[in-house]
Amino acid sequence: MIIGVFSAKGGVGKSLVASNLAAAFAAFHRLPTALLDLAPGLGQDDLLLDLVPERTWADLLPVISELTAKHLELAATVHPSGLRLFAAPPEINVVNPRTSGVNPLTPDLLKALLAALRQNFAHTVLDCPTGLEASTLAAFGEAELRLVVLTLDVPTLRSTQRLIQALPADEKATGLVINQYSRGTPIGLDEVLASLSKDLPREETKGMPRTEALSLRLSAHAEGLPVPARGAKEQTKSMPKTLDLYAVLPVDARAVWGNVSYGQPCVLAKKKGLGRALRLLAARIVRPGSR
Ligand SMILES: Nc1ncnc2c1ncn2[C@@H]1O[C@H](COP(=O)(O)OP(=O)(O)O)[C@@H](O)[C@H]1O
Ligand SMILES: [Mg+2]
Repeated sequence: MIIGVFSAKGGVGKSLVASNLAAAFAAFHRLPTALLDLAPGLGQDDLLLDLVPERTWADLLPVISELTAKHLELAATVHPSGLRLFAAPPEINVVNPRTSGVNPLTPDLLKALLAALRQNFAHTVLDCPTGLEASTLAAFGEAELRLVVLTLDVPTLRSTQRLIQALPADEKATGLVINQYSRGTPIGLDEVLASLSKDLPREETKGMPRTEALSLRLSAHAEGLPVPARGAKEQTKSMPKTLDLYAVLPVDARAVWGNVSYGQPCVLAKKKGLGRALRLLAARIVRPGSR
């Protein structure tokens, strides 16, 4: 499955979520997992995993039409968890220095790369560029599961609302991941949902689970309690399933410090807080019935 991790605004924790999810799939679920860092020149997933890539996905572009498992293995950097990182090239432009700033991974090249990754990995996690650039729009179409990471502040909510409106109107699952949550936040979940669903086309609004049930699940997530299953009435209401709350991740300075300073994925440290919430999110994706 291709899992695209998106955000409308930088700094919300997209790379942290993408790299930790990939580490959890590989380490705890023993699934062949790839992590594709899609931000040429600006990628950080190598740092978050304490890896020093010798090659990047840019090395695959000249052979993109004939990619084999061997090519993929040569371009990947292996993490102790087993996950394969396809690091972003360090140069902003690796194809033509005269068109600096252009992402060499065009939508067609991305599709070809993802086709090869799909064949060779159980899960491929995409750390997508922030906002709505061409490769992000292509990733919207390619991902079987879209995770939209956001924080509960007004600018992020407004940008996220616009990003959600740009999603293709299809039946694929889109999961909201609220990050850096702390209790007593002035913006309540009902406001989040009202703001995110406001201008959605009718079919998509129909897919929003009822806010009361989500509120209940939000507080359970935040307390680290088992999240109640959706009621029968709500389940029928949420067909087709298009937008759902997947996780609420707590603010956790200590866990993040080890991750950003030493490249130790917090999901792998057997601690409560952020690491535990990310383990639950990974389990939910691997076993969709679990909550
Ligand atoms: N749950 C969290 N608790 C505390 N700090 C966090 C959390 N998630 C992210 N951060 C902080 O936000 C910064 C940005 O995270 P990052 O994953 O690089 O965001 P993005 O990829 O969305 O730009 C991190 O360096 C970290 O300091
Ligand atoms: Mg990032």
